[in-house]
Amino acid sequence: MAQQDSELAKGEQQGTSERQGDVAGPEEASVEATPEDGDAAAGKALFNSLCAACHKLDGNSIGPPLRGVAERRENDWLHSWISNSAAMIAAGDETAVEIYNEYNQTAMPPFPQLSDEDIDNILAYTSQPKAVPQEQQAGGGEGAAAGGGGGVSTDIILGILAFVLLMLLAILFLVNRTLRRFATASGVQLPEKPKRTPIWKSFVENQFLVLTSAVVLLLVGAYFFYGFVMQVGVDQGYQPIQPIHFSHKIHAGDNQIECKFCHSSARVSKTSGIPSLNVCMNCHKSIGEVADDTATDEYSKEFYDGEIAKLYDAVGWDPASQSYTGETEPVKWVRIHNLPDFAYFNHSQHVEVGGIACQTCHGPVEEMEIMYQNAPLTMGWCVNCHRETNVRTAGNEYYEKVHEELSKKYEVEELTVAQMGGIECMKCHY
Ligand code: HEC
Ligand code: HEC
Ligand code: HEC
Ligand code: HEC
Ligand code: HEC
Ligand code: HEC
Repeated sequence: MAQQDSELAKGEQQGTSERQGDVAGPEEASVEATPEDGDAAAGKALFNSLCAACHKLDGNSIGPPLRGVAERRENDWLHSWISNSAAMIAAGDETAVEIYNEYNQTAMPPFPQLSDEDIDNILAYTSQPKAVPQEQQAGGGEGAAAGGGGGVSTDIILGILAFVLLMLLAILFLVNRTLRRFATASGVQLPEKPKRTPIWKSFVENQFLVLTSAVVLLLVGAYFFYGFVMQVGVDQGYQPIQPIHFSHKIHAGDNQIECKFCHSSARVSKTSGIPSLNVCMNCHKSIGEVADDTATDEYSKEFYDGEIAKLYDAVGWDPASQSYTGETEPVKWVRIHNLPDFAYFNHSQHVEVGGIACQTCHGPVEEMEIMYQNAPLTMGWCVNCHRETNVRTAGNEYYEKVHEELSKKYEVEELTVAQMGGIECMKCHY
């Protein structure tokens, strides 16, 4: 747990500025409203990784609810309590001893790693008012973005267009009739309609027309056939429903949990793998429900809590008695990315050796409420990147030698993966 905390804290620091950008208007507004000048967004991440195991914002957990604690207690008192509560109890601080006894003398661990600023940030987060109207704002914004601009307006525009077309037809008809009437009235002889051969007959008789039509038909057909064939096996955008609604946005985004914390084999092996449920339970033994402000318009708190309950059912965890029942039921995640067997792809080659970020291939995972396939995963996609990307040769003896020879051959400074042999068929097909 301690190791994982420090991992989280690390990720936290790196991502601070980015995350502040992410949390839009509503969060900022509430930052202003807090007593401290802390950054509530940064505080939230710290809270979730360090404190959420024992504290909820509202309602009792192992420790007392922390919403509004900054109003209940002196700021200095809070700082020294959070840094080292045991010291305060030992020193006989009256309030400290009182809540210590109230909570059955459960020890809260000291947090010497938290700076004053960190603590202010956490307190700013706990000072946020219960965010009911804000949620709706945030959720509404997301919903609109996801809905792709809303169907209603398109329907209205189409309706108006259809109406205008109908009006034009009617006008044409009327004009035609009036003109004919004028013509007859002023004695103009309208030409008699000649007896026409039916259209299909004249078409069949015109060999040139038949030939051109046939060619056009064939071309169009071939075009669609080609498109169809090229689509076979391309699952870009594939987004199956998983047995447990697992949000990468909440885990990798909001809570800054690093990818490799869960997909730990990506660095060392061919596959990235899906984490086992034990990995989940590292955190979820103590996180049985989500915070109120995690809920959006689309997904309620009850929904999220229900999904965590599914995790408990699967691993056989009884949150009431805080123990395993022994009745487990495997979760069958639906595989999303899947190359055919005849193609070889290796994660560690790309992530470790090549230094490519997960997001280059998998897209903005930290924003995905539901995981989907971002890249086409076609041969063209692999080969294009190998043509465009330079190999990182620095610090790699083998590469430096190869690089010396090949860069002379190609007369270039930097070598692309392709020039190093990365588009030879055998590299990807065996
Ligand atoms: C292992 C469980 C545990 C963790 C983790 C924990 N606390 Fe506590 N906390 C407690 C308990 C239990 C109490 C009640 C007092 C006692 O028994 O020591 C408490 C009390 C408090 C109080 C006093 C509340 C009041 O009403 O006066 C504050 C403030 C507090 N914790 C903040 C934090 C913060 C901030 C973090 C994260 C950095 C944190 N705690 C992490 C268990 C924990
Ligand atoms: C808390 C654990 C956790 C973290 C952190 C996490 N993931 Fe995942 N990831 C999962 C689980 C569970 C699944 C399977 C369920 C799903 O597809 O949503 C998954 C699925 C995926 C898949 C799809 C796998 C398939 O079936 O093809 C990709 C790609 C992925 N994660 C990439 C990432 C990246 C990139 C990051 C870091 C930005 C990340 N994950 C962070 C747990 C995690
Ligand atoms: C490093 C800690 C950590 C790990 C590991 C972790 N979670 Fe979570 N999980 C969290 C936090 C933090 C939240 C959000 C709590 C909140 O918003 O109040 C959360 C929320 C959830 C939720 C509710 C939101 C949602 O995503 O639908 C589910 C379900 C969930 N986790 C499932 C899982 C599963 C399944 C795994 C293992 C693959 C896992 N978690 C691993 C920390 C973790
Ligand atoms: C160069 C592109 C690329 C990069 C970079 C990349 N992936 Fe993948 N990822 C793929 C491809 C291609 C597959 C499908 C592999 C297969 O089906 O054999 C895949 C599959 C996966 C899967 C599904 C399970 C598996 O192992 O096949 C997970 C999970 C995953 N990637 C996570 C990650 C994470 C986490 C990172 C960053 C540490 C990452 N990927 C970086 C291209 C990439
Ligand atoms: C985002 C760019 C990118 C994409 C997409 C990509 N690769 Fe790569 N690939 C690289 C880089 C960079 C290297 C060189 C890594 C190194 O060895 O330094 C590499 C190396 C390789 C190698 C080793 C080549 C050698 O000479 O040893 C293989 C095999 C490979 N990739 C297969 C694939 C396959 C299969 C796909 C598609 C499923 C793919 N790659 C998609 C960037 C990419
Ligand atoms: C960088 C990796 C890579 C290299 C190099 C590569 N391929 Fe592929 N190839 C793939 C992948 C990945 C697929 C699977 C694409 C899919 O499922 O749509 C594939 C699919 C194919 C297919 C099946 C048809 C199709 O498009 O789905 C054939 C045939 C093929 N490759 C032949 C070759 C030949 C011949 C060469 C050498 C000139 C070659 N490949 C080089 C990655 C590669």
